[in-house]
Amino acid sequence: MPKLPRVYVTRNIPKPGLDLLREECEVEVWDSDDAIPKDELLKHVPGIDGLLCMLTDRIDKEVLEAAGPQLKCVGTMSVGYEHIDVEECKSREIRVSNTPNVSTDSVSELTVALLLLTSRRLLEGVDAVKQGAWGKWKPMWLCGMEMVHRTIGILGLGRIGYGVARRLKPFGVSKIIYHDVCKVSYADDVGAEFVPFDQLVAESDVICICCNLTPQTKHKFNMVTFKKMKKHAILINSGRGGVVHHDDLFDALTSGEIGAAGLDVTEPEPLPASHPLVSLHNCIILPHMGSNTIDSRNSMAETAAKNILACFSNKDAIGDVIVYR
Ligand code: DGY
Repeated sequence: MPKLPRVYVTRNIPKPGLDLLREECEVEVWDSDDAIPKDELLKHVPGIDGLLCMLTDRIDKEVLEAAGPQLKCVGTMSVGYEHIDVEECKSREIRVSNTPNVSTDSVSELTVALLLLTSRRLLEGVDAVKQGAWGKWKPMWLCGMEMVHRTIGILGLGRIGYGVARRLKPFGVSKIIYHDVCKVSYADDVGAEFVPFDQLVAESDVICICCNLTPQTKHKFNMVTFKKMKKHAILINSGRGGVVHHDDLFDALTSGEIGAAGLDVTEPEPLPASHPLVSLHNCIILPHMGSNTIDSRNSMAETAAKNILACFSNKDAIGDVIVYR
């Protein structure tokens, strides 16, 4: 009987993904909800043919070296793959895959939820009730911003950016503008207009960051950017924390350069509870939970598993980042 390919899975993932892998591979799992420590990862990878990893695992030269030259593929159970040294994988002819599409709806939905949470000051309201600070109705209390007639700016009109635009349009926004590495044809479906980054920043009442972290987007939102934004502008980040310079964000929120921020992703993650941003009333921080739905998680696990299997059978993967055949 031919030897089954060996796959290491760096976390306890939903059953649909594991079941698929177990049909065709010898599978070993880091059986925990917590991230595998690097030294454990290094101990478990020698001799594997495939690695199914999470966005918390740094897959660098050391890990690839420890795995050995038989390693054929690295599949991450995430859309983002900045934790994988793609260049190093390329040089070793290791296929890299991700899980696009399957979390588009959950992340788009969460982005809009976070925007409304922030723009309507909902957590301050919830806190007031809990703290017994809810007095008689006051006309000037906890007034937020409506979406109607606002200009929405989206940085990164990929699947998630588009999903956010599609969901916000029925709110009666006046305009959707976007910036990306290039114009995209489907922008017309939501009436989104491509603009230079500086125009996006200057004209938007709300900016949603829906892009990847790349050398070009790293700390793109810094004090220089914040100073160009409207004073009441709301910044929402569901892309990657590294797109925003967090010390500058703190200064911008406390000095009134911008109105409020909602972050589902931060730099670092987890953001310590003692971080100055956590104490601000005009900054809402969620613990990177954009794709936290049962549907998305099952599909992410299945897609990541299918990507690994596609590599072993020399087929196209659903989320090919780099391919060698
Ligand atoms: C991803 O898939 O990259 C997300 O950030 C996880 O929710």
